[in-house]
Amino acid sequence: MLKKIGIGVLVSGSGSNLQSIIDHIEGKRLDAEIRMVISNNPEAFALQRCCKHRVPAVVIDHREFHTREDFDRCVMAKLRAADVELVVMAGFMRILSPEFFRAFPRRIMNIHPALLPSFPGMHVQKKAVEYGAKFSGCTVHFADEGVDTGPIIIQSVVPVYEDDTADTLAKRILREEHRIYPQAIQYYAEGKIEIEGRTVRIRNGRRLAEKALHNPPLTRF
Ligand code: GRF
Repeated sequence: MLKKIGIGVLVSGSGSNLQSIIDHIEGKRLDAEIRMVISNNPEAFALQRCCKHRVPAVVIDHREFHTREDFDRCVMAKLRAADVELVVMAGFMRILSPEFFRAFPRRIMNIHPALLPSFPGMHVQKKAVEYGAKFSGCTVHFADEGVDTGPIIIQSVVPVYEDDTADTLAKRILREEHRIYPQAIQYYAEGKIEIEGRTVRIRNGRRLAEKALHNPPLTRF
């Protein structure tokens, strides 16, 4: 049997990605154990999910610290004390300091609700709709010191429809987030991830069939 990796999940809000990770672990489809959930927001609904599923969780409120570095050190200490191997940012609305990345080199994942490198930053579903993009999606990547810039592990593509709003697109993307985040963590748990420069390779990974998508669909060509 595969050894379970110990993960720490950083959250700030609803925690639906956290819920998906919990569900995949409980369903024995993800060989991981959540050693600690840390929320910087005492009101985060994610904390109620932890209670319900008996997942260890703490609040570390960033407002109680003078500097970003002090807050980060406290988070790092908690993660280390809980013996966390992989840090999973799941809707965590804080930027981490360089010291944090040095402490967990290539061991921090993030999920972003757009097809990076398009639309980094905030409110990206709204930006994709306003831009008139025909496809969007989500990206799981290793986090680095930039904003949404680290090596990409997996992406999922969804269509953007002409009558989409930021909300309808966000829902479509979120359903895919809930599938690709557990998959990325499982690749890590299986020791299949290799990183070469910006490229992430999945050892013995399956290759996607060479097939293009079109939106709107081609009618004649
Ligand atoms: C997700 O869209 C995620 O991609 C972004 O923040 C949102 C968090 O959702 N970083 P949840 O808290 O997991 O429900």
